[in-house]
Amino acid sequence: MTLSRDLKFEDFMTNVFERRPELLKGGCRSEYTWDDLNRCLFGWDPSDGRVRLFDKVMVPFEAYTELVDDLGTQRFRLLKEELYRRLDNGATLILNRLDLKCPQVAEIAAQISGLIGERTVSNGYACFGGGGAFGHHWDTHDVFAVQLIGRKRWKLYEPTVALPLPHQRSADRKHECPQVPIQDVVLEPGDILYVPRGWWHSTETAAKEESFHIAVGVHTLKMRDYATWLCETVMGEHISARRSLKWENNEFEDADFVKAFEREMFSAKNLADFKQAAAENVRQETCFSIHRSQSIGRGASLSINSPYRQAASGGLFVANGTKVAIDPVSARTLKRALDGELGNLEPREERFLKGLLARDLVRLIN
Ligand SMILES: [Fe+2]
Repeated sequence: MTLSRDLKFEDFMTNVFERRPELLKGGCRSEYTWDDLNRCLFGWDPSDGRVRLFDKVMVPFEAYTELVDDLGTQRFRLLKEELYRRLDNGATLILNRLDLKCPQVAEIAAQISGLIGERTVSNGYACFGGGGAFGHHWDTHDVFAVQLIGRKRWKLYEPTVALPLPHQRSADRKHECPQVPIQDVVLEPGDILYVPRGWWHSTETAAKEESFHIAVGVHTLKMRDYATWLCETVMGEHISARRSLKWENNEFEDADFVKAFEREMFSAKNLADFKQAAAENVRQETCFSIHRSQSIGRGASLSINSPYRQAASGGLFVANGTKVAIDPVSARTLKRALDGELGNLEPREERFLKGLLARDLVRLIN
């Protein structure tokens, strides 16, 4: 699966992100089939809690799994008969964190992540006709809905709580959902619908019509995360932040603290350090490539395995939760690999790139 080259980071972040929904018609090229999904389900241990069935309410785990004895080891397995029966009758199969099971899904999620420079997590939704799965609701993270098989209708409504945080749920505010949708679209394979967090939406699949889509959820760092990080790091240098809070008059009088906090907030160095700390915390899974662990071919093209755009600078390369020292020659090799201009590799260069690949700092693009 590949994202359309028409999608441009700057345009999207300036005009669309967190502002309005956007239908990206034919936004990705996909040949995803039910057999791809069947292969992911094969061997999936449902006791990890990520295979769910929604049939008006969440179906209890015991209803579609059984505990079996497998040569002396106990394990859960999905009950195909019950799974198929429920799906036939309009239930939705939810596959949480499908990006950890399915390389194609991991790849499209990584490409979306790379496009917007934020981390993503992907869930899959399969159904074979019937009503909408979850009714009207909003999500507390932005979503790229990527239709992979069949069709699904989406209705979108204006938000009533702009940019909600994870604790601001739609469940007890359903009466606020506007009556008239501002967008009513049917997604077809390859279409991508961007839904900013807080926008009400509902979905439906026509009777007996199949649909499989993934929701690539975007998990951004918020202003409040930056403020918390500042308080936990650099603010400790200021005596105004170390003073005890005065309770007596219920009045906040310490202007020194406010000034210091404002200075730290606007510091470009702090923002860069915060970004680096975020990059050190990210963990993205990539597909294995054991057959290429011995050599990297000259045609290989690599990509940084991190949503945060960190160039190798100051002798340091940070990606996917790992920090490595990098000399100027290696930095040039890495740049050539990222630009897809590897050419012939010296043994030293190949060793260096293989090391990055094995440590998941970069990923191979096919
Ligand atoms: Fe949703």
